[in-house]
Amino acid sequence: MFKKSSIKNLPNHIGIIMDGNGRWASLQGMPRNMGHKEGINAVERTIDALIKFNIKVVTFFAFSTENWKRSQEEIDGIFNLTRDFIKSKRENFKKRGIKITTMGDCTKFPDDLQHELQVIKDDTKDNNNIVVNLALNYGGRADIVHAVNNLISQGETEVTEEKLSSSLYSYPLPDPDFVIRTSGEERISNFMLYQIAYSEFYFTPVLWPDFNERHLRKALKNFSKRNRRFGGTK
Ligand code: IPE
Ligand code: IPE
Ligand code: MG
Repeated sequence: MFKKSSIKNLPNHIGIIMDGNGRWASLQGMPRNMGHKEGINAVERTIDALIKFNIKVVTFFAFSTENWKRSQEEIDGIFNLTRDFIKSKRENFKKRGIKITTMGDCTKFPDDLQHELQVIKDDTKDNNNIVVNLALNYGGRADIVHAVNNLISQGETEVTEEKLSSSLYSYPLPDPDFVIRTSGEERISNFMLYQIAYSEFYFTPVLWPDFNERHLRKALKNFSKRNRRFGGTK
């Protein structure tokens, strides 16, 4: 068991690049989608742990704009698992104050998945214990392009950082303070490119399906020792 009070300076918003589901499955001699199934369990476990730490916002990178390059079987598997997960957890999340939001272009998803996403967002919109933001068909570049196009369609002729920030998919969520990537890869893979300007990064070799409360605690302790300067001198 961990002592919540023992960690000072916790991040407000954590971004998680969940990676390693496929490798986890291969290591067990199982098909890739079994890795995604275990990955969903890790999402649930992580939400529970984040609530214990009183983290207010988490963004899970669940499906990138580049993940369409995967086999149709794998993509369908991810969509089915996501749909079943949000459907089965709706009442539980509603009761526990978990607010679900999404970012990315969900219009490309199957109708049943879009429907379940809309229902859970509507059902949990007044919750304020933790925001669980799901990045779905999300890419940082697409986010910026979408924001600029929105501004153009509103008749804007000059972009400012404020206008751009408030047109991003993540608005009105704050920028991530901390970004965790599992599986040992040390890259961003198109995650929240604009919003991570001053995020702290943490890379762990743990494969996403194995990620647990102990790993989260270790990451948070590491974050708590960082000296964030934002370009200043303190
Ligand atoms: C992350 O695990 C899940 C998604 C990108 C949807 P991967 O499926 O990328 O797993 P690896 O990187 O192939 O091990
Ligand atoms: C990043 O993982 C995207 C998500 C976690 C959804 P990928 O496995 O798609 O990234 P690359 O291909 O290794 O960069
Ligand atoms: Mg991967």
